[in-house]
Amino acid sequence: LGLRHNLYLGTAVDMAALDDPADPRYRQIVGSEFSTVTAENVMKWESLEPTRGSYDWAAADELVTFARQHDQRVRGHVLAWQNQLPKWLTDGVADGSISNAQLRDLLHKHITDVVTHFRGKIWQWDVVNEAVSDPWDTPPTLHYKGFWAEHLGPDYIADAFRWARAADPKALLFYNDYNIEAFGSGDPANDKTQFVYDMAKGLLARGVPIDGIGSQGHLGTQYGNYDTLQVVAALKKFSALGLATAFTEVDVRSEVTEGMGSNEINPRLQASAANYHVLLQACLADRHCLSFTVWGFTDKHSWVPGTFTNEGLANIYDENYQPKRAYNVLRGDLIYA
Ligand code: G3I
Repeated sequence: LGLRHNLYLGTAVDMAALDDPADPRYRQIVGSEFSTVTAENVMKWESLEPTRGSYDWAAADELVTFARQHDQRVRGHVLAWQNQLPKWLTDGVADGSISNAQLRDLLHKHITDVVTHFRGKIWQWDVVNEAVSDPWDTPPTLHYKGFWAEHLGPDYIADAFRWARAADPKALLFYNDYNIEAFGSGDPANDKTQFVYDMAKGLLARGVPIDGIGSQGHLGTQYGNYDTLQVVAALKKFSALGLATAFTEVDVRSEVTEGMGSNEINPRLQASAANYHVLLQACLADRHCLSFTVWGFTDKHSWVPGTFTNEGLANIYDENYQPKRAYNVLRGDLIYA
């Protein structure tokens, strides 16, 4: 996939599925269809350090080895994020046994230890993930949100990039977020893409080592389509700052209720494919867009139904590993005018 354009095509990998002997298609497709992989969960802090001070690298190392065996590049996901933190960390902060100064030291140690462990093996790191609020949050004016900003203030973002760079000078360091596929009003108070753009520009002006912006690309057919040119414009504005870009977690979900027949499902599959097409074409239009990663490739193993009631059909293969229209879009076999 993607070879004709020198674009890396990737998938998030669910390690339980990769290792399930009863599900051999999963492993076969990961190994044969993609040129880059991302750990869906096993490089997150709760997986790597479930008990304070003792690391469990096994699953993450296994993915890195798999990638090397299949000539694939690895996106590292994720260093500083407010979700999937180990319980010892969040409990320690809640009960006051970990002060904010100690918390900052723990984040420094975490980033240093993890990036050092994988030094030379990770192509792009998602250093900071989802640090910005959404217009539906309280207050609606966009702001830095979540555990790290609340305890350390927004400067943790610059710190995280500096610590990551110190531990692996060659890895590309990304800020990663959703709902930043296109610019909106241009007002950073309510336009998340503008807020992230201003953040990145500010970090660069201060000499912070940020190399790229990861646009997740979690879309839904019920929200309609972006226009390709809108998405191209966003990518090019980031690349004009000297940053690389990447689509990092693409999936396009639909509303789906039980017993829905193919007559109702087909238009959803088509709309889903059209959205994949828009993001892919935009990425192909800007040579600074380095990779296009789908957040899982089969509806059999998707985070969507567990998070959004009555939503699914988000991936490029169905739950029986039959390729869908979106698969043909990524192959370059299907063009939507
Ligand atoms: O590992 C446990 C397992 O032991 C237990 O039996 C099971 C019961 O629920 O839970 C398992 O953990 C789940 C984990 O995925 C692994 O499957 C968690 O409950 C579940 O919350 C977790 O969901 C992940 C989610 O991040 C959590 O934040 C999804 O798989 C993963 O796709 C999703 O990925 C995020 C990106 O990292 C960042 N951007 C958004 C994206 C989608 O939410």
